[in-house]
Amino acid sequence: MINNPLPRLDRAPAIYAKLVPFCRLKPGEIWQDPLSGHRVGCLNATSPTQIARLMGQETARLAVHDPPYNLAAFEFRTLDQYIEWCREWIEITRGYLDQDSSLYLWLGADQTADFQPLPDVMVMMRRTPFQARSFITMRNQRGYGTQTNWMAVRQELLYYTLGNPPFQPQYTEIPKTLGGYYKKIDDEFKGNLERGLSPTIRAGNVWFDVQQVFYRMEENVNGCYAQKPLKAIERILQASSKPGELVLDFFAHSGTTLLAAERTGRRCFTVDLDPVYCEITIRRLERFHATGKTGWQNDHPFSAELAGVKDPAITAELAYAEQEA
Ligand SMILES: C[S@@+](CC[C@H](N)C(=O)[O-])C[C@H]1O[C@@H](n2cnc3c(N)ncnc32)[C@H](O)[C@@H]1O
Repeated sequence: MINNPLPRLDRAPAIYAKLVPFCRLKPGEIWQDPLSGHRVGCLNATSPTQIARLMGQETARLAVHDPPYNLAAFEFRTLDQYIEWCREWIEITRGYLDQDSSLYLWLGADQTADFQPLPDVMVMMRRTPFQARSFITMRNQRGYGTQTNWMAVRQELLYYTLGNPPFQPQYTEIPKTLGGYYKKIDDEFKGNLERGLSPTIRAGNVWFDVQQVFYRMEENVNGCYAQKPLKAIERILQASSKPGELVLDFFAHSGTTLLAAERTGRRCFTVDLDPVYCEITIRRLERFHATGKTGWQNDHPFSAELAGVKDPAITAELAYAEQEA
């Protein structure tokens, strides 16, 4: 396995500054994928005029948003400001969703800060036209915490709908082994295994079968700090949209929703405020088109640009990434 890590770019200012000139999108610009028609915008999720340019006349069947959870951002946004900020991009999203559509929100509940912002977002959502449908928990393998509390390993995902959108049940790879739960069907008692539509267990609202992304996995994108597993996003896309339909993601980062859309035959319009994450998102799609690979494992999207760089600040940040890996 190649060992060429990149540190989290939000904590590597020298590398970040070096990469900005290589980004093909400047703030306000939009790239369109010539092969599948996806769009990536270096845009602000809370700007109605910027999102209007992204969308044109199109509406989407599904939105999958994964905003910053106000954990790192807590210093510059109070909780009230954070909730108001969420309300703005949710209102914009609603304007571009089909009459029958779904919205998924990835969120955090910080147990060191009154579980914010999850409950506050849930209460805010009650004042919108979205119907609450499910509260999913994905289990992470790694977490945070101390020896004096339960380690935090959960990742929250809220599912809302407008109108009456399609929903296709999804199945895990876990074999059904219990024959119990008898139900009467056509006057005959039938067990779980006879009744089932699949030999494997249906995904419920606790996802314990999804591996958190780490550097040994092909889909890993070094430099990113909040990458979601492709398996989770593909599960959402396959449950709540059909091939050919349009999916939105206003917080692209490593471009997972875009890649999941490509792999499942959907189209995706996605934005990120930061040109570096827009470039990573575009390069990840281009790499997939060229090689079929879903990420860089322990290499990274800017290895050509950083090869042979002698700047001591950059060398120090790269050395730190090696120690961490
Ligand atoms: C939690 S990450 C998303 C992770 C993504 N789901 C993935 O799998 O890679 C949040 C992203 O939102 C971006 N962001 C923050 N504020 C934004 C805004 N106002 N508009 C658009 N993007 C924003 C950040 O730059 C960051 O890349």
